[in-house]
Amino acid sequence: MKMINDRPIGMFDSGFGGLTVARALIDMMPRENLVYIGDTGRYPYGNKSASDVRNYALEIATSLVHDFNVKMIVVACNTAASVALKELQQTLPVPVIGVIEPGVRALLRVTRNKKVGVIGTVGTISSGAYDQAISATKAQVKLTSAACPGFVEFVERDQITGDEVLTLAEKLLGPIRDSGVDTLLLGCTHYPYLSFVISQVMGQDVALVNSADETALVVQESLLKNNIARSVSSSSKGEHEFYSSGDVQQFAELGRRFLGPELSAAKYWQTKSN
Ligand code: DGL
Repeated sequence: MKMINDRPIGMFDSGFGGLTVARALIDMMPRENLVYIGDTGRYPYGNKSASDVRNYALEIATSLVHDFNVKMIVVACNTAASVALKELQQTLPVPVIGVIEPGVRALLRVTRNKKVGVIGTVGTISSGAYDQAISATKAQVKLTSAACPGFVEFVERDQITGDEVLTLAEKLLGPIRDSGVDTLLLGCTHYPYLSFVISQVMGQDVALVNSADETALVVQESLLKNNIARSVSSSSKGEHEFYSSGDVQQFAELGRRFLGPELSAAKYWQTKSN
């Protein structure tokens, strides 16, 4: 039986996107053990109904608690966090951290002209989660948001540059660029992989921010507050395990390019539903 501090942090996303958050977490807390589930067998989440995404999130989070004995869960997916975070926080016996509030904090810290943008999946943007999170801060900013259907699929196909994705980005981001924002939050954990194309469209004067570093900071604070951080005297590096509900080989190959050498292999995680 592992001591609670040595138990892993559980993370999940519909696929590769949460690896942007995993990277920040590993860099900031190299001793922590990690279990990551990418639900590539059912991705994308962004065009699914809120109730389907909620069910997937509950299923994965419950598996992380019961099958992997995690000490904390990071919902490394905006779409899942926007419909299921509160319920997970209320029902699971471990702390649950999302990516929306941390992303908003990063956004508000960077803007100067108080005109900010958020882009995300259809599910995230239509949930209103970002409008609520920003108004909860009482910050006086003008928010323009846009859904970007198709972006996630380009990332999952490893097509992160080129004419096709640039044409789609110009079409989807044009209105947000014209609204005069000085800061754009990438409100989907897949989008940092498209930063080059997004920046080409938005122009160099618009700062792109994402939730990865800020989420890792919140995780670190919560580990310390709950007294469950892995001991600093432990000289050993954390173990990082990766699971996919889809093509495991492809997850390992593309995932390694996105995340780095820590993703040396991936195992299969069996879903209960489709
Ligand atoms: N990475 C997810 C998010 O942050 C994903 C999306 C999807 O599967 O559509 O919203």
